[in-house]
Amino acid sequence: FSTMESLKNRTLLKVIFLGDSGVGKTSLMNQYVYKKFNRQYKATIGADFVTKELHIEDKSVTLQIWDTAGQERFHSLGAAFYRGADCCVLVYDVNDLKSFETLNTWHSEFLKQANPMEPETFPFVLIGNKTDVDGGNNRVVADKRAIEWCGAKGNIPYYETSAKEDVNVDEAFWGVAQKTLSSE
Ligand code: GTP
Ligand code: MG
Repeated sequence: FSTMESLKNRTLLKVIFLGDSGVGKTSLMNQYVYKKFNRQYKATIGADFVTKELHIEDKSVTLQIWDTAGQERFHSLGAAFYRGADCCVLVYDVNDLKSFETLNTWHSEFLKQANPMEPETFPFVLIGNKTDVDGGNNRVVADKRAIEWCGAKGNIPYYETSAKEDVNVDEAFWGVAQKTLSSE
């Protein structure tokens, strides 16, 4: 795994999605890349990637988006997998407090495994997903609280999405690309 591959104006960015099982990591990717949503839950096993081409200014950027398993028993990734990452996207479910509280663990576990040169400035992005559930009446994590957490971790950009209703999904991925590029 190389960190960033830059050939003239072509750039490959390796982005790793982490977060508890069921928060919607796979759904976000499927909505973004294939414009599809599946109500049925199918656990991700191990890790797999999809790619998406973006054009930012005069640059052709390929996002290599790695979807990982939230379920502990399906974790099978070694440090070598994390070490090539250019960005880490943490996902939680705004209706599930535990998935928010576990963010600290995902964040520190990523840094431990990836072991980047400058952990303080390594690009992370936070996504709070499932804003559609019960019209938002079911949510237990206020956006203010999430924004505070992002501030404490060194101003991590924050997006709220609904993978189901395709709300803010493009914007979140666009933000991921911008954040990653600006950190290279
Ligand atoms: P693991 O692969 O186990 O880590 O889970 P995951 O994070 O990939 O979650 P997944 O995308 O499989 O979604 C889990 C369940 O939540 C599925 O039944 C999805 O249909 C549902 N889901 C995902 N995103 C949304 C959303 O934005 N709104 C609603 N209402 N349901 C969602
Ligand atoms: Mg999954």
